[in-house]
Amino acid sequence: MVSNNYLIIGGSSGIGYEIAQLLLKENHKVWITGNTSESTPLGAIRLQLDIQNYNPQVFDSLPDTLHGIAYCPGTIQLKPFRALKEEDFKKDMEINVWGAVKTLQDNLKRLKQATSASVVLFSTVAVQTGMSFHSSVAASKGAIEGLTRSLAAELAPSIRVNAVAPSLTDTALASALLSTPEKREASAKRHPLQRVASAEEIAQVAHFLLSEKSNWVTGQIWKADGGMGNLK
Ligand SMILES: NC(=O)c1ccc[n+]([C@@H]2O[C@H](COP(=O)([O-])OP(=O)(O)OC[C@H]3O[C@@H](n4cnc5c(N)ncnc54)[C@H](OP(=O)(O)O)[C@@H]3O)[C@@H](O)[C@H]2O)c1
Repeated sequence: MVSNNYLIIGGSSGIGYEIAQLLLKENHKVWITGNTSESTPLGAIRLQLDIQNYNPQVFDSLPDTLHGIAYCPGTIQLKPFRALKEEDFKKDMEINVWGAVKTLQDNLKRLKQATSASVVLFSTVAVQTGMSFHSSVAASKGAIEGLTRSLAAELAPSIRVNAVAPSLTDTALASALLSTPEKREASAKRHPLQRVASAEEIAQVAHFLLSEKSNWVTGQIWKADGGMGNLK
């Protein structure tokens, strides 16, 4: 198998970490960014990146060609609408959307160098399915869905752009929602498949979208939600 170059923004934990692992198993070269965690999948090269103190020089050491980028940083600020402050909305927009925009703009030339490249962004089930207390995160992830379709049109045919829309997934980001057996059971029951996802299960979908196996797929929002979004 050919060895490609991949950049995983937010590859130091959760879904991004698992995506990096899957790519490394196939002998691809993988660069990850981490922010607060030093954790790095074995064989990956770690770059330090805080989206809220963004510095494009972090990418200076990357090769001229990238075959794929996954943008994995995210937020879960679940509050009643009346309690959400301007800073909450700004933080969600900054981490979920603006970080994706900046990292893609700063690496576009590298993606264009590949004959065929793939970008994977992350939305949430809470965009297509209305959920209480999700207004801020849903607004920012809704922007990601628009960005996905628009970029897929603009960057075709050389770069494919898709997003994964997970429901609750067992990662550090969701730890407060899964911190007791009662919470875990209640979350599981909301899914037709009667459990929450593992980080690896969501990473498998992202990995497929990054790979050549999905060469005919672009501009899609790929639901990975145990049926929650469209089954009763
Ligand atoms: N988990 C869920 O239930 C769930 C549900 C729906 C959608 N999603 C989406 O799926 C994606 C992956 O989520 P996850 O659960 O894997 O999250 P996670 O475990 O918290 O991992 C997020 C990754 O992004 C990095 N990151 C977070 N904030 C950052 C910042 N401000 N600057 C730079 N890097 C930052 C983290 O780095 P450090 O750890 O080094 O700080 C980590 O590597 C997110 O976009 C999320 O919105 C998740």
